[in-house]
Amino acid sequence: MPTAAARGRILLVGATGLVGRAVHAVLAPHYQVVTAGPEACDRFLDLDDCASIVAAVADPGGEGWAAVACAAGLGRFAPLHTIAPAPMTQSVYGQALCNKLLGQVNLALAAREHLRDGGSVTLVTGIATQHTIPGASGFTMANAAIEGFARAAAIEMPRGIRINVVSPGVLAESPPPVFELFAGFEPVPAARVAQAYLRSIEGGQTGQVFTVW
Ligand SMILES: NC(=O)c1ccc[n+]([C@@H]2O[C@H](COP(=O)([O-])OP(=O)(O)OC[C@H]3O[C@@H](n4cnc5c(N)ncnc54)[C@H](OP(=O)(O)O)[C@@H]3O)[C@@H](O)[C@H]2O)c1
Repeated sequence: MPTAAARGRILLVGATGLVGRAVHAVLAPHYQVVTAGPEACDRFLDLDDCASIVAAVADPGGEGWAAVACAAGLGRFAPLHTIAPAPMTQSVYGQALCNKLLGQVNLALAAREHLRDGGSVTLVTGIATQHTIPGASGFTMANAAIEGFARAAAIEMPRGIRINVVSPGVLAESPPPVFELFAGFEPVPAARVAQAYLRSIEGGQTGQVFTVW
């Protein structure tokens, strides 16, 4: 069995969150995991700040990341009747579109240059893509765009680099108010979601959405 050092380094964005902690636990025995996020991480990365993404992904002198994976992405729940037409900077949808969508797209674009041959990018969406609920139009829209981006980017990634998406159901570890929003949805343990990240990183597939619900 190769050591973690031999299997390479993975940049994990959002490693301090519910999904990210579980992904870190699954990856850490096999890889050197470098964490990236706004606080308490090895590298500073804010999905709203393109320059910070480019800087965090840079790997000068390194042998290239084995994988870059994201377990972050912000958005806002809001009932449609409360949402007025607005430019991006004032729109309720701005956070999901700038942070969760464009932040992850920028992460994938920046990662291309710094992944080793055959490396992978794993992004995150969520069950609201296919099974939406009232108030989730921003998440549903951003998630669908992320999944579309990954499907399209997969056929143009250089050097055998793969790109997939993990789409979790409602996490069993989520705080109680989330279950009220997602009444009737079966909760999934974060550890199961983490296995989908491992499948994306170690499997041969590309352009796929790994649903976990
Ligand atoms: N929880 C669920 O039930 C569920 C279900 C489906 C999909 N998802 C999706 O899964 C992803 C992770 O969810 P989660 O529940 O694990 O969230 P979480 O527990 O709130 O963790 C979010 C992670 O993202 C980091 N983060 C916050 N703002 C950031 C920014 N601007 N740039 C980069 N990183 C940032 C956080 O860092 P700090 O700790 O430093 O703030 C934290 O590590 C999200 O995209 C979410 O939509 C979650």
